[in-house]
Amino acid sequence: MKHITCIEDLRQLHKRRVPRAFFDYADRGSYTEDTLRANSADLQQIKFRQRILVDVSKRNLSTTILGEPSAMPLILAPVGLLGMQHGDGEIHACRAAQAAGIPFTQSTMSICSIEEIAAAVDKPFWFQLYVMKDRGFIKSLIERAIAAKCSALVLTVDLQVIGQRHQDIKNGMTVPPEWSLSKLIDFASKPSWVAGVMRGKRRSFGNIVGHVKDTEDLTKLAAWTASQFDTTLNWKDIDWIRSIWPGKLILKGILDVEDAEIAAKSGAQAIVVSNHGGRQLDGAPSSIEVLPEIVDEVGSQLEIMFDGGIRTGMDIMRALALGAKSCMIGRAYAYGLGAGGEAGVAKAIDILAKELTTTMGLCGVNTIAEIDDHVLAV
Ligand code: FNR
Repeated sequence: MKHITCIEDLRQLHKRRVPRAFFDYADRGSYTEDTLRANSADLQQIKFRQRILVDVSKRNLSTTILGEPSAMPLILAPVGLLGMQHGDGEIHACRAAQAAGIPFTQSTMSICSIEEIAAAVDKPFWFQLYVMKDRGFIKSLIERAIAAKCSALVLTVDLQVIGQRHQDIKNGMTVPPEWSLSKLIDFASKPSWVAGVMRGKRRSFGNIVGHVKDTEDLTKLAAWTASQFDTTLNWKDIDWIRSIWPGKLILKGILDVEDAEIAAKSGAQAIVVSNHGGRQLDGAPSSIEVLPEIVDEVGSQLEIMFDGGIRTGMDIMRALALGAKSCMIGRAYAYGLGAGGEAGVAKAIDILAKELTTTMGLCGVNTIAEIDDHVLAV
């Protein structure tokens, strides 16, 4: 890890260490990948105002997220299949987040189950929910998250219909998964990855195993899961979830002001302005493009979180300057996990924290609360 200085270094190491199909699953986006590219490109267009001769000796990243203290305005986003990037990947990512004093969000589509993570860590984590057709199963998942003392429910609302990632199909990341000689050779050339995944608790969707018959058969489980995404999902279902989940509720995947206005009346405490990291509606605006109008409209009613394209601490500063209260990262830490397990995730968080601290200093601010659009060059 000594020569790793930026998130791109972690990405390159991830690419070398993990089979290509799993690296591409993390790295790529839907269809033409226009929205995936726009997320980072639009962030980079935003320029800072350099300020000089301001005492910036007391810089401090600490803040609150939904009323809880957090070491920095950063959250690990829900990312599916982390346990295939590194054995027990969800546990490693959660431990790194908790050691850094920031929240970790477990995806419904995790390899480790809610209970396995809860048993392996000291503090509560967040749980992300995809609402599936089988509402009995969803109710039981929410009850399991309550029993595991998860401290927030992140309801993802932008995946009723699944955007296609061409590369996943080409790589055989399909239902059922496709095997080929080149894939087997690729796996065989990464023995430490194979050993790590084999040592892990599971190689299948840990939250769903046990619910479907013959559940240790990944093919059947994947087919059941793929058939479960519910195109009928609508705002009334949010009321139903509210009636079961008593805690903090975050709606993730909002890009439109009208949707944000409805969300503000839905009983949720926060929204994540997000296009699912350019993995869903290709041609949707970048998250940063729509952030300011959503903050203007509902920022006083809801806590606004942001994700999409964050690869540097400068990007976090940009999103905060445009009104986000905190940021989620997906790929930036998934690369760290693939590159080096818990230490790799810790490295990703540390890189972003140091870059944010430096950027604050060069913009003349000491605290997160001071960051607003006055740090930007117009
Ligand atoms: C995701 N994302 C995601 N979101 C979600 O709500 N549930 C999930 O299971 C997943 N799975 C997932 C897998 C992978 C490999 C990626 C890269 C992303 C979306 C994620 O939470 C977040 O919105 C994006 O990753 C943010 O964009 P960046 O930070 O990756 O650019």
